[in-house]
Amino acid sequence: MCYQILTLGGISLALTLSLSAAPQSQERLFKDADIAAGKALYQEHKCSACHQERHGLNEKDYYTRPGRKVTTQEKLITQINFCSTQLSLSLFPEDELNIAAYLNDAYYKLK
Ligand code: HEC
Repeated sequence: MCYQILTLGGISLALTLSLSAAPQSQERLFKDADIAAGKALYQEHKCSACHQERHGLNEKDYYTRPGRKVTTQEKLITQINFCSTQLSLSLFPEDELNIAAYLNDAYYKLK
């Protein structure tokens, strides 16, 4: 029993280590993204309106609130994909990447 717990501990340690090795590659996710195009898309689709309605927070306070959902660049892209799917925006992956790059540059600052 004790051994099992130790083994599990070892696995989670290994996971933590491989995750902490990720930031460098994450930094490259937005390397070729177009922040200005992302900002334009973001404003065009009024992304903030719904978040503001739900939480009563302005854009900056919403994205930088302590309990925010997005904690990695990958999650940011996934969440934007989720929201745009909900809205049936049918954005191209490239558009979603540009929006993610804009939000990361303006608020998230994820590496
Ligand atoms: C119809 C409502 C709605 C619209 C419009 C909407 N979202 Fe969202 N969004 C949500 C919900 C629900 C969540 C989950 C967290 C929450 O409850 O606020 C969320 C969360 C997010 C988050 C994560 C916030 C965090 O906690 O870190 C991002 C980023 C995001 N949305 C981006 C977008 C973008 C980009 C658009 C425009 C393409 C958009 N959203 C439009 C409903 C919406």
